[in-house]
This record gives sequence, C-alpha cells and structure tokens, in this order.
Amino acid sequence: MGSSSQYRSVFSAATRQERQDNFDNYWTFTQQHGGELLEAERDLAKKRARLQYFQEHPVRLRKPLANPDAFYRNYVTMQDDPHALDRLTLMLTSIYKFARHEWVGIKAAWEVVPTMADSHSVEDKISRVHLAEEFCHWRLFDEMLKTCGLDRVEWAPLSPGKEWFYRQFPKLPGYLMDTPAFVTELMGVTYYCHLHRLFDDVLAEEPEVRDRLKALLDEITIDEIAHVGQRRNFIGPIGIRISRILVKPFYKLFFNDIPEVALLFDVEQMIKHGESFDYNDLPEYMRARSWIPSYCKA
Ligand SMILES: [Fe+2]
Ligand SMILES: [Fe+2]
Repeated sequence: MGSSSQYRSVFSAATRQERQDNFDNYWTFTQQHGGELLEAERDLAKKRARLQYFQEHPVRLRKPLANPDAFYRNYVTMQDDPHALDRLTLMLTSIYKFARHEWVGIKAAWEVVPTMADSHSVEDKISRVHLAEEFCHWRLFDEMLKTCGLDRVEWAPLSPGKEWFYRQFPKLPGYLMDTPAFVTELMGVTYYCHLHRLFDDVLAEEPEVRDRLKALLDEITIDEIAHVGQRRNFIGPIGIRISRILVKPFYKLFFNDIPEVALLFDVEQMIKHGESFDYNDLPEYMRARSWIPSYCKA
C-alpha cells in the first residue's frame, strides 16, 4: 500500500449505472489516447507514431550481449539449466515469453470479436481498440529485444492445446470470460511494474538502454493500467469477489509456465501486488496518461 490513499482498491464495488457511465468515459479516453484505429494494420495512429520515433532514434547496448546464442537457444523453450544463464538473458527470454502469450491471445481474439463496423455497443468498440493496443504492445516488446541486439526473434505459435485454448477463450460468454480477462490484465501490470524495477538492477551499466527499455515499457504499462480498470468495469459485485480469489491461482499457473520468472522476481510479492492493487503506488506521470474508474477514486 502506498503512503497516499487517493485511490481505492481495484476490487471496489460499483453499481450498474456507475459502470455504464465509466464505459462511456473510457471510450472517450481511449479514442484520444491511441488516435485513429488502423484496422487493416491492427494498429493505432498515435501509437504507431510513437514506435516510429523509437525506431528512428535507436539505442543499442554499449557492450553487446556476450552470448546471444544463449538467448536464441532458450527463448522459445528453456533448453539449458536456467540457473546457468546470466540475468540479462533470463530477463530477455522472460520478456519474450510473456509477450508471446499476449500475441497468441490477441491474434485469436482479433478474429473473433466484432470489427469496428460491426461494433454497435460501446463495449464492443472498446474491445476492438483494446486489441489493437495489444498489437502495439507486441511491437514495442519486439523493439525492446532489438534494442538489446536481438533482431532474429521469431514469434512462434504455442503448443496446439494452448493455441486452441486461446481461440476458444474470447468466444466464452461474459459471465465466464470477464473475471479471468480482468485478472490477466492485472497480472500484466504486476509483471510490468516489477520488470521496470528489474531494469535498474540488470542494466545498471547500460544507462541508455535501461532508459530506452523503460520508455518502451511505459508505453505498454500506461495502456495496461487503463485496461485493468476497463476490464474491471465489465464485472458485477459477485464476479469482482471471485476475481480477487483468482489472483493467486492465476498468477501461479501463468508464472510457473515461465521458469525465468521465479529466478528474477518474488512471485509471492507479485501476488500481493495484484491482490492489493489500488493505483496509489503508481507514479503520477503514469496515472496522468492512463485511465482509472471513477469508483476507484477516493
Ligand atoms: Fe498488453
Ligand atoms: Fe492489456
């Protein structure tokens, strides 16, 4: 918990009317935040311009990775004993693995959710733009890896079983899909907040790359903070209590699948971060660019 308490828990209750008003408010926010939706390119105008800025002003490691093969050998599936890998390589393979799950999930969902032309409710419109934003995140992650000299990264499909799961998930009715979708967004913010701190530690001798990775990650985290509130807004009073109970098993299940995570982060701390998430600990510059539901403001 932060020292200030301007904000309330993300699991705070909300009435149906409050949630409807918040959807309208989020829709106004998201349109100005990402700019025009470029549906054919699964992209957003403002976000594209931001990525282009990073690409046109590249930053690279002072001291290139000593052993890029260690990354390429382990990034899709861990082959080596992870304890034998250096922390920078572990951090980069964990970033890839996290981003890969997102990428598989959004590719599947993009095919299932209504296009903007077919979106008649504000919730559908929000969901379409949300997915376009996630594609932007995948490109930003790819840029993070390139910044560390990894320009031969391929985005590989997951196992057929996991690919199937990700294709079925967005077809589920809201009462089944909304709570896990919310917890997944929350898990993203937890991972990004912890990753931001890890940059200081792992990249202490690479200040330019550290700052660039932070700038790339901030673009993602600011969106994800908004997604947390937006996905929370889909959930009624019973679902929000279930969501809080799901934090622990979900985080464990997901992070157990990425062996790097337990070596780099304190998973118990991450679970606590999720369960007690209330916006107060976030830096003001992030909150100012993001979106928070009205009922989470004290
Ligand atoms: Fe994302
Ligand atoms: Fe998200």
